[in-house]
Amino acid sequence: MCGIVGYVGEKQALQVVVEGLRRLEYRGYDSAGVAVVADGVLDTRKKAGKLVNLETLLGADPLPQSTIGIGHTRWATHGGPTDANAHPHVSEDGKVAVIHNGIIENFAELRAELSAAGVTLSSETDTEVVAHLLAAVLPTVRMDLAEAMRTVCRRLSGAFTLVAVHSDVPDVVVGARRNSPLVVGRGQGENFLASDVAAFIAHTRSAIELGQDQVVELRRDSVVVTDFEGAPADVTEYEVTWDASAAEKGGYETFMAKEIAEQPKAVSDTLLGRIGPTGRLQLDEMRLSENDLREIDKVVVIACGTAYHAGLVAKYALEHWTRVPCEVELASEFRYRDPVVGPRTLILAISQSGETMDTIMALRYAREQGSKVLAICNTQGSTIPRESDAVLYTHAGPEVAVASTKAFLTQLVACYLVALYVAQVRGNKFGDEIAAVVRELKDMPQKVDLVLDTTEEMKALAEELKDAPSVLFIGRHVGFPVALEGALKLKELAYMHAEGFAAGELKHGPIALLEEGVPVICIVPSPAGRSVLHEKIVSNIQEVRARGARTIVIAEEGDESVVPYADHLVRIPACPTLLQPLVSTVPLQVFAAAMAAAKGHDVDQPRNLAKSVTVE
Ligand code: G6P
Repeated sequence: MCGIVGYVGEKQALQVVVEGLRRLEYRGYDSAGVAVVADGVLDTRKKAGKLVNLETLLGADPLPQSTIGIGHTRWATHGGPTDANAHPHVSEDGKVAVIHNGIIENFAELRAELSAAGVTLSSETDTEVVAHLLAAVLPTVRMDLAEAMRTVCRRLSGAFTLVAVHSDVPDVVVGARRNSPLVVGRGQGENFLASDVAAFIAHTRSAIELGQDQVVELRRDSVVVTDFEGAPADVTEYEVTWDASAAEKGGYETFMAKEIAEQPKAVSDTLLGRIGPTGRLQLDEMRLSENDLREIDKVVVIACGTAYHAGLVAKYALEHWTRVPCEVELASEFRYRDPVVGPRTLILAISQSGETMDTIMALRYAREQGSKVLAICNTQGSTIPRESDAVLYTHAGPEVAVASTKAFLTQLVACYLVALYVAQVRGNKFGDEIAAVVRELKDMPQKVDLVLDTTEEMKALAEELKDAPSVLFIGRHVGFPVALEGALKLKELAYMHAEGFAAGELKHGPIALLEEGVPVICIVPSPAGRSVLHEKIVSNIQEVRARGARTIVIAEEGDESVVPYADHLVRIPACPTLLQPLVSTVPLQVFAAAMAAAKGHDVDQPRNLAKSVTVE
């Protein structure tokens, strides 16, 4: 949430910064702004709305050429999405510009202090105080911007990534990090700062993770990192493994369409190297000892949004395969309700970005209670894996569209792997039983590929249903989280009323919502193996149809029992019920994206949302 870019080097900074912002726009698009220093003068441009509005402004009112600059794309927290609240914020003397991601929790107190000292604040943001505080501190620290930043950071509470430039030190960009993400890109004669490597991957793949409470001073040819007290800090350098094209649309109309199409590969990449020749799982990379896994008496999954739905699927798999009790909780609820966890609880923190603040706070709380935390994450070096005891990376590659698709499928795969591994270590299942599931798991990329064939059909269906006032989703067992995910996608993208229900619960209230023609999407489990489950949902489909609903049934190839009750039948490849979310979710993703497109909405950047939510 909020994207930040900083550059110092030999190139035209504005071009580098705006290009970086384009790649970070998924983090927020309420406003965008840039600042450059040219000939000892600081100059800014900022504009409410998407980046394109800023680009139009820059066309009409260009900035001078410069080799140092910063830029910001905003997801509003304090103060509405206006020009005045857009970043950068500048000190009264016009010399310091600051951009920020996060929330400065003691900003009201700092604002009052500045007002009392005669400073005029020109925005409603929490960020602006930092510009004024830096300006006040600089003369006391011999105009050393990094030292001023350290001094100011010691006074701030909350979550913040801050980046600043000053017109009197035209070769330095300074950044600070507490809780919100910030990465350094190290180039030849140039250096970068950004919320995410995507902003600079076209220039360099060499990155440095910044730790908590660190300040970085960037010049063309040096990167100096200290803690908030000024002591030199240890940093970890790494090579980014994906290239710039991974974050491009590559001929697709939207990032989401591309990311949906990439799912077979993402699933197969997440399995890669984790299954031994005999079908035994090899997850030593996780850094959690077999003994730790034998000791646990409960698993608690914490996550938000789509990742939470992956956690709900994990519960069915974990309890079935390992017999270890599993709870799943929204991270924002877990943290503030005094949950019962301890040293024998394994916390599974699922997050695509690794930066979701609700999940970070929940995992910190759990660790304080002595629990071990295993992260399932898609972003190397991000906060959640850094602060966890162990990590299993999903290999979805960069996900740019705000609504999560390929990350969800890979989170499911990672959850299955963890559950099977726990079963293997604890001996809950015989080796050949695990190997049989693993074989089925290995077939899934091909099945995900097959289900992509429903794309045109789902688009046509969306076109037909685009005026429906609401869409309901029902499922049982793992079909229930799929129903929730289908409804979430539709809310996020098409701004429609959509709800997912456990099909068995429908008769206890929600069935009252049904009237003639209401579309109900029904997720049907495999008829093989769990025939009772299958029979029950077939009855539920009949119940909704009897009340006039229009049924859209998602069922396996060859399942003839549903044919009489389906107004529209969507076929998915046969697979074991527990693994079915990997295929049954895909048509729902396509449906939601198509519905958004049919209504003329921005599929990749839905209103009010941000991909990475770095505030609580
Ligand atoms: C935001 C995104 C969702 C995502 C959720 C959790 O709300 O819009 O798509 O599922 O955050 O994100 P995470 O990065 O923790 O998986």
